[in-house]
Amino acid sequence: MTDPETNIEDMLLLERKHWVNGPPHELFKRMRSECPVHWTSKVTEFPAAAGFWSVTNADDVHAVSRDWETYSSEVGGVVAINEVFPIELARAMFIGMDPPKHDRIKALFQAGFTPKRIAAHEDEIRQIVIKVLDRLDGRESCDLVNDVAQPAVSRVIGSFMGIPEEDDAAWARLMNATLGASDPEFTQSPEELEGFIEKAVAEIFERCNKMIAERRENPNDDLTSVLVHAEVDGERLEEHEIVMGFFLLVAAGNDSTKATYTSGMRALLEDREQLQMVLDDPSLIPGMVEEALRMFPAFAHFRRTATKDTALNGKEIKEGEKVVMWYTSSNRDETRYEDPDRFDVLRNPEHQAFGAGGRHFCLGTALARLELKILFEETLARFPDIALDSKPRFVESAFLNQLKTLPVRLAP
Ligand code: HEM
Repeated sequence: MTDPETNIEDMLLLERKHWVNGPPHELFKRMRSECPVHWTSKVTEFPAAAGFWSVTNADDVHAVSRDWETYSSEVGGVVAINEVFPIELARAMFIGMDPPKHDRIKALFQAGFTPKRIAAHEDEIRQIVIKVLDRLDGRESCDLVNDVAQPAVSRVIGSFMGIPEEDDAAWARLMNATLGASDPEFTQSPEELEGFIEKAVAEIFERCNKMIAERRENPNDDLTSVLVHAEVDGERLEEHEIVMGFFLLVAAGNDSTKATYTSGMRALLEDREQLQMVLDDPSLIPGMVEEALRMFPAFAHFRRTATKDTALNGKEIKEGEKVVMWYTSSNRDETRYEDPDRFDVLRNPEHQAFGAGGRHFCLGTALARLELKILFEETLARFPDIALDSKPRFVESAFLNQLKTLPVRLAP
């Protein structure tokens, strides 16, 4: 981890050694206290990548997130290192656009994500989770990431979009390959990485195009049909906007809830007292979902690019420089949370896991919250004696904040 003697100003935040066991929380703590807006001069693995500013406390993340005119999502990409998530890909999705283009497309997508539409899926989501848990009947142990979270979240977003169930595993593979591509278990060198992402993306487009063509011909009530036919002020989405939106939703739907559910379960299983409180009173679960989102935001960061020279918390930021908002840090800001590294099922906190307001605030909050609630409820009701088995492993990534495996014992 971090050598406490090292000058925080010289720290290269993205060095791999800091991320093999999840986000470097001790390092972020030092940054918040000694240098809350911090400059990382280079990225060892990607020598061509420019340096970047890290924004680590909640107030500053809030300020950057709200000011899209100074901090653009469009001009430079949405993650710290574009080599990991290509800028062309980001810009083609509304997450990588600025107003007015962003607002027009997001409004059309919102038609599919009204709270009423999401709430109407509660039973269906519960049935999906129950079916996944049924498959564990007779087993003494399992991996909560790959045996529960992955199939459940893939089917939930799959059923929303109208993806046939037999294609879930293929979609999950493509999404994990694209978003988690920095993990050496997926690829090795930067050159390999580029080819790898290109191939996965081409396959994704092919599958999307096929589904969209089908829904144009035969609309039903899935989200793909809503998108194909959505209309705001007489405007519809163009073909490529639907394809990229589809990609964005499947990507966000696959990775996000999986990450928060598994890390939340891990925290519970590491603290039997907290676990017992939730087992005794399941009405604590919605509040616990917020605490899990706070402590384990699915995305460690999103990024902006300064559109003009500006200043933030005493630092001069130049036009064109990257500005990275670290939610993994801002959600543990000690000026907002007492004992921030403690998982407390009674805390029910506000947090920045879904972003800190502003134009790009997460579209999927209602779906994510409902899915997480049901996942926790059903898992704990079915397996009250669940316990950690062997050591969990993290996806090695400074963007995806998630476990790769979480081995558990299901019965004593
Ligand atoms: C634990 C669950 C989730 C977390 C922590 C999360 C987090 C985030 C964050 C931090 C952003 C802001 C990006 C930025 O500021 O640049 C975002 C945006 C977005 N999220 Fe989520 N998300 C989650 C679940 C979902 C789900 C289930 C969906 C949909 C299926 C979704 C769809 C989106 C979309 C479309 C955007 C882009 C919004 C825009 O650019 O206007 N998210 N999410």
